[in-house]
Amino acid sequence: MSNHDSYRKHFFERGWCRFEFDEAIAAWIESALPFARKAVVAEEFSRWLRCEGTWFVGVNALPNRADGSVGTGPGLQGELVDFIRQELYTDHFAWDAAQVSVFYPGYPRPKESESEKAFQYRCRRDAAHVDGLLPEGDSRRRHLREHHGFILGIPMVEYDQNTSPAVIWEGSQELVRSALSKRFNGIAPGEWSHEDITDSYHAVRQQVFEQCNRVPIVACPGEAYLIHRLAVHGVAPWRNGAVASADGRMICYFRPEFLDADGWLNSP
Ligand SMILES: [Fe+2]
Repeated sequence: MSNHDSYRKHFFERGWCRFEFDEAIAAWIESALPFARKAVVAEEFSRWLRCEGTWFVGVNALPNRADGSVGTGPGLQGELVDFIRQELYTDHFAWDAAQVSVFYPGYPRPKESESEKAFQYRCRRDAAHVDGLLPEGDSRRRHLREHHGFILGIPMVEYDQNTSPAVIWEGSQELVRSALSKRFNGIAPGEWSHEDITDSYHAVRQQVFEQCNRVPIVACPGEAYLIHRLAVHGVAPWRNGAVASADGRMICYFRPEFLDADGWLNSP
């Protein structure tokens, strides 16, 4: 089986895949890392430091262009970009400004104005979620608000299983697809954002915890991983004694939005 075929099989069956080391990604990191480090300490992004300083959320904090390039560096290219274009039907899309996601020793700590229940969920269930189904208001009711095409994680520094890796529930994307297809049955896609889908979402998440394998995703700089947009994923707690550099566990995430509601739910 070619690399491409094994990536495809892994991605569509399990909801994620890890790409082997690629010089093109290593070159991108070399140009992007100084900008990511700058973002973490920038005054304008200080609001992104949460949970008693153990989590830099960093949404859209990397100043990359639509081709992914940063500074005088190269755009995003290589095997994983070819894979995205071929398998996710995205000939033309612009790279969004990447999230610079950093975790530090001690995560998780309570978040400002967070309920005890929500904090416990982050501790016990890795803050597991599906992107785009945003909780709103005090009652955290959920609606489909964003239609990301995929989630691409590019590790910027070395890290390991103990330093808050991303975790994924393998195969969860098809359980989520089936639950939301039922929930939205008979409703035009243009109306889906008005539907409160909290109950269906909680039910399928529970089903995912019971039926799917929870797998930590660890990758080296130069490797990268792709997560299916419908997959349940989260972040593991930092384990006591785990060692990391001053950069912490730094990963850049791209989540371009190029789908409509129908494409978000029904594309492969
Ligand atoms: Fe996410």
